[in-house]
This record gives sequence, C-alpha cells and structure tokens, in this order.
Amino acid sequence: MSDLVTQLREAGCVFAEEEAAILFAAASDTTELDLLAARRIDGEPLEHVVGWAGFAGLRIPVAPGVFVPRRRTELVARVAQRLAPDLGTVVDLCCGAGAIGIALATWREDLTVFASDIDPVAVELAARGLAPLGGTAVVSNMDADLPPGLAGAVDVVTSCPPYVPTRQIAMMPHEARDHEPRRALDGGRDGARVQARVFDAAVRLLAPGGACVVETSEHVVDATVAAATHAGLAAAVEEDEALGAVVVVGTR
Ligand SMILES: C[S@@+](CC[C@H](N)C(=O)[O-])C[C@H]1O[C@@H](n2cnc3c(N)ncnc32)[C@H](O)[C@@H]1O
Repeated sequence: MSDLVTQLREAGCVFAEEEAAILFAAASDTTELDLLAARRIDGEPLEHVVGWAGFAGLRIPVAPGVFVPRRRTELVARVAQRLAPDLGTVVDLCCGAGAIGIALATWREDLTVFASDIDPVAVELAARGLAPLGGTAVVSNMDADLPPGLAGAVDVVTSCPPYVPTRQIAMMPHEARDHEPRRALDGGRDGARVQARVFDAAVRLLAPGGACVVETSEHVVDATVAAATHAGLAAAVEEDEALGAVVVVGTR
C-alpha cells in the first residue's frame, strides 16, 4: 500500500493516501490493483478508474468518456429539494451520469424525476441509477425528446450544463481536458450559451410558479442571470462557500 501511495504522489495525485485506499478497495486481487493503479498513474480520473463518483453521500456510477459529477453540484440538488413541492415533478436537463436526479429521487421519494442528456452513454448510466428509484432517463437534445406531457407541467428544472468559457478550457486540469467530452465542458464565448438553452427549455417545461436551478460559476454568473432574464424568468443567485458553488434560480 505504501508503494502505491508513493507512486500516486509521484504521479501528482494530491490525495495519494485516500486514492490508494479507494483503488485498494476497488480491486479484487493484486493483478487488478496493478491495472487500476496504472490507469490512474497514467492520468485517468480516479472516478473513471473505479467506476463511481462520490456525490451527496452517494456513489454515482460513472464510466470513461462521461463527465465526472462534481461535489459543488450538490447545491443544485439541495436547492431543488427545497423548492420542489410535495409530489412534484422534476426534470434534470444535461444530466450526465444522473447525479442530481439520483440524489433528489433518493432524498424525496414523493418526487417524479426525469433526466435527459444528449450523450447516450451518460443516459445509460443515469437510467441505471434512476430506475430503482422510480426515475426515468432519456436521450434528448435539451427538451426536444422528453415526453410531450411534461410541457407546462414541471415544478422544478435542474441543470448543470457546460459553462466553461471556450477560451478557458485550455487552462482546465488535464484530467478534464483529456478525459471528459468537450461537449460536457464548453459553454461558448461567455460560458452561458448552453445555460441560455436550458432556461429557454425551462420556460416550455415549467408550470406557472415553477423554478429552474442552474449551476454556474462566479466568473459566468452575470451572463447566467442575463440568460435567465432574457428567457423571461425572474433570476436570483444562491451560493455555498463551503462547496464553492453558485447557482442561478429562474422562477416562472
Ligand atoms: C458539465 S456536464 C454535467 C453533467 C451532470 N449534470 C453532472 O453534474 O454530473 C454537462 C452535460 O451536458 C450535456 N449536454 C451538452 N449539450 C447538451 C444538449 N444540447 N442537450 C442535452 N445535453 C447536453 C453533456 O453531454 C454533459 O453530460
């Protein structure tokens, strides 16, 4: 184990002890441990190597080529949990592996949760996580292929869409640049291009009084608020310093 910690540290892993323990627990024997460790030392995200990401105390299944859910996105789920009425309907757009919807469906058994993403591999993971909780995941470019009955009938739309301004992608850690799809990161020139599409979709989906909770960053938040307002929603910003998280809530 101490050899593995040293190798991980030399490879640049900041939390080498914790990562070694996770790899150790994930491997069924020393041969598998060597294979998993080699992938990690080669720069693959730990979550892709072991097949899950920690999120809100849950293990979300992930796979190579799919965005790894970030801890800060827990704020989207927590705000949505607060805003969703009893027996409400929630749609998570750009769901990736489904972390937000899986957390909501776990915390609130009364909610009906739909999730969608343009990436079929991510949707497969989300569907696997949501099905035992009564939720549904579908492949869809925004809301285009969601069940038509959802239009105007949704209480809360959640989303962590791509919101990194294009010119900043080159400055992201290599794990993200090299192992997560560009489509999951690139938010266009001002970072808010896909967020604007989420707010437009939310206007079609939300019932009157419903809310759309969208993750952003302190650098992009002004453009996110402008996008929500442009879509016709009343925008408010919520932050969680401990998580380093910022969301914009657009209310219909
Ligand atoms: C930053 S990742 C977040 C994934 C997930 N929400 C999470 O927090 O783990 C953004 C996701 O948006 C999806 N996406 C990008 N453009 C999309 C579009 N036009 N329609 C649906 N999903 C899209 C990507 O495939 C990716 O899974």
